Amino acid sequence: MLRTHTCGELRSSHAGGVVTLCGWVDSYRDHGGGLFVDLRDRYGITQVVFNPPDSSAELIEQSKQLRAEYVIQVTGNVALRPEGMANPRLSSGEIELRATSLKLLNKSLTPPVSPSESITELPSEELRLKYRYLDLRRQKMQKALLLRDKLIKLMRDYFAELDFIDVETPILGRSTPEGARDYLVPSRVHHGHFYALPQSPQLYKQILMMAGYDRYVQVARCFRDEDLRADRQPEFTQLDVEMAFIDHEDIMGIIDGLVVKLAKEVHNLDVKLPLPRMTYDEAMRRFGHDAPDLRFGLEIVDCTDLAAKSEFRVFQTVAQSGGFVRAINVKKGTDTYSRRGIDSLTEFVANYGAKGLAWFRCEEDGTLGSTIAKNFTPETLKEFATRLNAEPGDLILFSADKWPVTCKVLHALRTKIGAEMKLYDPAAMNFSWIVEFPMFEHDAEEGRWVAMHHPFTAPLDEHLQYLDTDPGRCRAKAYDLVINGYEAGGGTIRIHDNVVQSKVFGLLGLSAEVAKDRFGFLLDALQYGAPPHGGIALGIDRVVMLFGGLDNIRDVIAFPKTQKATDLMTEAPGTVDAKQLRELGVKVVE
Ligand code: AMO
Ligand code: AMP
Repeated sequence: MLRTHTCGELRSSHAGGVVTLCGWVDSYRDHGGGLFVDLRDRYGITQVVFNPPDSSAELIEQSKQLRAEYVIQVTGNVALRPEGMANPRLSSGEIELRATSLKLLNKSLTPPVSPSESITELPSEELRLKYRYLDLRRQKMQKALLLRDKLIKLMRDYFAELDFIDVETPILGRSTPEGARDYLVPSRVHHGHFYALPQSPQLYKQILMMAGYDRYVQVARCFRDEDLRADRQPEFTQLDVEMAFIDHEDIMGIIDGLVVKLAKEVHNLDVKLPLPRMTYDEAMRRFGHDAPDLRFGLEIVDCTDLAAKSEFRVFQTVAQSGGFVRAINVKKGTDTYSRRGIDSLTEFVANYGAKGLAWFRCEEDGTLGSTIAKNFTPETLKEFATRLNAEPGDLILFSADKWPVTCKVLHALRTKIGAEMKLYDPAAMNFSWIVEFPMFEHDAEEGRWVAMHHPFTAPLDEHLQYLDTDPGRCRAKAYDLVINGYEAGGGTIRIHDNVVQSKVFGLLGLSAEVAKDRFGFLLDALQYGAPPHGGIALGIDRVVMLFGGLDNIRDVIAFPKTQKATDLMTEAPGTVDAKQLRELGVKVVE
């Protein structure tokens, strides 16, 4: 070992000892006589002093060559810092190392991204990703990766104790649709044939249940070529779980136990069970979203009936043509949102497809006022006020449109206003379950049903009949774990009957031939004694992000991709030479 201790290790009890440290020059200050260096490694920072009498004149001269991020090995005497000079912000702040010898292990160019906490302004994310090795030296990044390590370890231990077995599944496989595009890998041996990188290990874990493994867990890498957002990466990691001979309560119960353990061990939080639970339909009705942030209220109130009989044309037309008029009451919102504030909210909701943002202000006398108030009789206004529980100072915002647009608009408004008006403690953590998702969504463009979760999801027993009569009404044995308004995990009970599975494939527009070609192995396996089974996958990156109180998934991944799915450090994806393409039988079309 090149060192006797780490830079986070020395305490007053070490005073009087001789030690050797290695690390990076985090910062340096020339105090005339000699140099003060903050030496950093993964474990912390230790102040190293080049001063007489411990340091020779020659050593002091040598130390003056040091610059930021130089890598050094330094030996010296551990000494208590002079009276009043202790630094309570450093774990080693009571002592300093008085250098007696120095070896320069390596120089550094001037770092374009400073790892030092003493630099408060972060460079652009582009620069951080290009020089990721410098960015990863930053304490905040280390903290995030250590948290990730801790959470994954806790997860593995939890499942191991419950008799789950960890089975690895292939990366080169057949496409399992999870609703995104596949990443494809051309086969050199079979030209024109492609492996698909797994969007999840879904079918393999189901096959493992059919193979009798009973309880499966894997920390699994998944690949999805989809539009990226702050909470999405093309390559991400799931805590993937599957169990046999269970129902949805068992899966949710196992995850409840995990949530309690993670919250306790990471934040010393006591999470109360059962977690709040709500159906998908209720979530859409009350919050306009299937992963509602339950840290605050601001619930949606339906006013379609009042709108229909109102005299306001916008409301009337929408309500009478099958649309919805829904509102949120922003308590004391008029203090935060002036007329100009409302204008900017109107611009904001336009991004979500809103054609406008009708509003009312509740006046001191309890009546509703607005530029549109003249379109309503005083009686109707009173009814709106009662329905919306309006009190002086409240701001009421409406979305009048088709159901999905009102959901999108009011969810976006609710999220924005919740944050802007600080309606919740950003450090709080809220866990809940959303259950009974629709089996199918109708894809208007393609004019067919698509699976809301994936095509292997079982319908509620009492909804099985709707597969034939009214697929849109059919709800699934599906459950999502929601943390602070993010979908942190999702799973379902699976179909274990090959007739039902074939029927669902049919509804999704897969002909019997295509189904057999793509999923023949599954349909076969279902006929050889498939047990009832189900499971769930948690998005580990998202869980780490949420437990770390972060809002960018890239900050919990060592080497993430940009929004454009590129790696700025290695410059992947890159071109390949013509020979490789020839071998693969692939031709690039410009
Ligand atoms: P699902 O597609 O809901 O289910 O994914 C499970 C969880 O994975 C996380 N996740 C992502 N995280 C980062 N980037 C992405 N692009 C991304 N996509 C998904 C989310 C999500 O809740 N096989 C099923 C699970 C099952 O049915 O057991 C599946 O993959 O947190
Ligand atoms: P207009 O009649 O288009 O001038 O709109 C009158 C008011 O209704 C304005 O405040 C608009 O922002 C609002 N408005 C128009 N369309 C909608 C809609 N679909 N939902 C909610 N408010 C709307």
